[in-house]
Amino acid sequence: FAAGGPTDVIARIVGDHMSRTLGQQIVVENVAGAGGTTGITRASQAQPDGYTIMMGHMGTHGAAPALYPNLKYDPAKDFAPIGLAAGTPIVIVTKKNFPASDLKGFLDHMKANGDKVNMAHAGVGSVSHSTGIFFNSVIKAKPTMVAYRGTGPALNDLMANTVDFMTDQIVNVAPQIQGGNIKALAIATPQRSPVLPDVPTTKEAGLEGYEVSAWNAVFAPKATPPDVVKKLSDALVKALDDETTKKRLLDLGGVIPSATERTPEALQKLVESEVARWTPVLKAAGATAE
Ligand code: MLT
Repeated sequence: FAAGGPTDVIARIVGDHMSRTLGQQIVVENVAGAGGTTGITRASQAQPDGYTIMMGHMGTHGAAPALYPNLKYDPAKDFAPIGLAAGTPIVIVTKKNFPASDLKGFLDHMKANGDKVNMAHAGVGSVSHSTGIFFNSVIKAKPTMVAYRGTGPALNDLMANTVDFMTDQIVNVAPQIQGGNIKALAIATPQRSPVLPDVPTTKEAGLEGYEVSAWNAVFAPKATPPDVVKKLSDALVKALDDETTKKRLLDLGGVIPSATERTPEALQKLVESEVARWTPVLKAAGATAE
């Protein structure tokens, strides 16, 4: 995705510490396009020597197969999983001058004017797109979908009041909510986030059936040797045990994976369960890329 969005921010935070452990500078290359699948396709075909790794997420390694019938990779087969980097609760956010300031008012507005409302996302199959499609199917709305190269640029337009709302990962929107530059209607998790204590959960705000969290995780090309996978995995685990790194993620509302959630095997299971989870949700919502 474009620089400045949640995936870029998480990649730089964990990459910063991993590079110290590995004694090897980690350069983040932001590759946008096709909901993140352009970058993942390219990285999946890189030399499997451990020198090209990628930050995938619930979109590229969960939703994409349902939306891209000709996807050039299988999330569950074509990678060496390294580990989960951060959980990212989804927040429903609107531009500051949206004519509703709580979820109930928003839903009333959508009933009357849904087709005139614009929803930002980061491309078909991205987290913001798939969680947006899910949201629209739950609230039975059909806003105009506006694609960006990432939710970093989408957030700029939200702050400029030139796009109406989006469902985005907390690590991207928390600072702007705290700064009063955009409005948060609800967070789609069972409990509130410690960094957004005044933002109600969707359930508290009266919306049943919309609880969703995304995640970002590190992958390597499939044929990466096991000892290299272990070296990378150990470096990621050390980053997540580092107090400064943890604080940077927590301050943005990120969720730090537990020790058992950080293993390559746990990530493999997560990918398999997320593909299985998102495929019917997106097909039921009638979403396709082509
Ligand atoms: C980003 O980094 O822009 C986001 O991860 C895009 C998305 O998946 O919504």
